[in-house]
Amino acid sequence: MDGMLDVVVMAAGKGTRMKSARPKVLHRLAGRPMLRHVLDTVASLDARAVVVVTGHGAEQVEAASTPDALAGKLGFVRQEPQRGTGDAVRFAAPSLRADGTVLILNGDVPLIAADTLRALAAAARPDALALLTIELDDPTGYGRIVRDGAGLVQAIVEQKDASEAQRAIRETYTGVMAVPGARLGGWLARLSDDNAQKEFYLTDLVAMAVADGVAVQAVRTRDAVEVAGVNSPLQLSQLERAYQRRQAEAQLEAGVRLADPARFDLRGRLHCAADVEIDVGCIFEGVVELGEGVRIGAHCVIADARIAAGTVVHPFSHIQGEKAGVEVGGNARIGPFARLRPGARLGDEVHVGNFVEVKNSTLAAGAKANHLAYLGDSTVGERVNFGAGSITANYDGVNKHRTTIGDDASIGSNCVLIAPVTIGAGGTVGGGSTVSRDTPPGTLTVARARQVSLERWKKPTKKAAE
Ligand code: UD1
Ligand code: CA
Repeated sequence: MDGMLDVVVMAAGKGTRMKSARPKVLHRLAGRPMLRHVLDTVASLDARAVVVVTGHGAEQVEAASTPDALAGKLGFVRQEPQRGTGDAVRFAAPSLRADGTVLILNGDVPLIAADTLRALAAAARPDALALLTIELDDPTGYGRIVRDGAGLVQAIVEQKDASEAQRAIRETYTGVMAVPGARLGGWLARLSDDNAQKEFYLTDLVAMAVADGVAVQAVRTRDAVEVAGVNSPLQLSQLERAYQRRQAEAQLEAGVRLADPARFDLRGRLHCAADVEIDVGCIFEGVVELGEGVRIGAHCVIADARIAAGTVVHPFSHIQGEKAGVEVGGNARIGPFARLRPGARLGDEVHVGNFVEVKNSTLAAGAKANHLAYLGDSTVGERVNFGAGSITANYDGVNKHRTTIGDDASIGSNCVLIAPVTIGAGGTVGGGSTVSRDTPPGTLTVARARQVSLERWKKPTKKAAE
């Protein structure tokens, strides 16, 4: 099959049942657009061409990010107007070759697995068409697989066209088909829209294949999650939960102790060393690495971060690495209610407490900012203590500037360090100071109005009523 496979992904439909301005295939499952899930899977197939059929919201769909692995192979064709799945493939046909197999996928079936697609493509031959089917307890809405007395597939009948007896059939079409390329064009040309939805159904290819003496192979899967189609917000939310359940179970099997697999969300990749504990309601995004024995408290959101062994992140903390990433050393204490933004690099045993925000700053080993503070664009030395209510004023309204705090310095409460500024090692800045010039090492700097107590002051007395 290698080198002889072309793939079509249909993504032109309006997705009316989503009741959304956003094209259906761009709705997200586990943080990624549904179409992206399909394309990431297709990227591992070694197809020679991949054609995505767009239509409704075409600009948006075509602008969405695609896997690097498909660069040079992926093309878009626009189907205008959208007159059904068979019509969609007609638009793709000029980009397909006749000498191989054409694998046709629905863009709204996001969790289809690469192995399943490989097996289906392998079941198609010049004289055989292959379909992926599944038996569902509730087949409502799906095309039904009609078989003859000998059990051979005869046709797919859409829900809206099905008779009462056909609606009782529980074997359904999953939306994935592998068609011999040499036959495809001829069959597409013969499609008609004489049906309940006045659409050209791709599924009508099956009856045509049977009529032409081409074998129809129904490859059955048992995995309803893998082939679930998303047509409504309810179905999307149900598939999200099913997918998250699987991811949670994979983490549990790997030894991660999730407090509750039903309250765990992974929208990316999570790599955990031994003895990691994760409390309820946490969300992980991008790529997150947790070292041995890391504990994550309830309701943390952690994206694109590396957290080293023994560190504890207390509840309600938000770690948001984005491109620059966040790194937290070993045996650190973060939160509760801490916010680590892109470029936060914390050394071993750093403490960042409640309502402390750190952005694009390095805190060396043992540094502490325990309460109500902002550290932006700063380099903070070892064992520095940054007091409650203190901030680095890193932004002059136009440019950002750096603050450097030497090892063992102590910044009192409610200080403003106006960058660019350097606080010398081992020095102390008195509480309430506004520091705009560098301070020498080992000194006490106090930069606030001197305290006065006025002796001749008289307390006001209450005026007599008139
Ligand atoms: C389709 C199948 C049904 C199957 C189900 C599985 C047909 C006629 N029916 O039904 O047998 O059980 O998938 O999920 O194929 N699209 C286009 N252009 C169009 C119409 C649709 O590109 O003109 C795209 C949609 O964006 C979507 C996919 O094709 O990604 C499927 O279309 P949808 O309308 O959702 O078909 P279903 O009713 O789910
Ligand atoms: Ca669908």
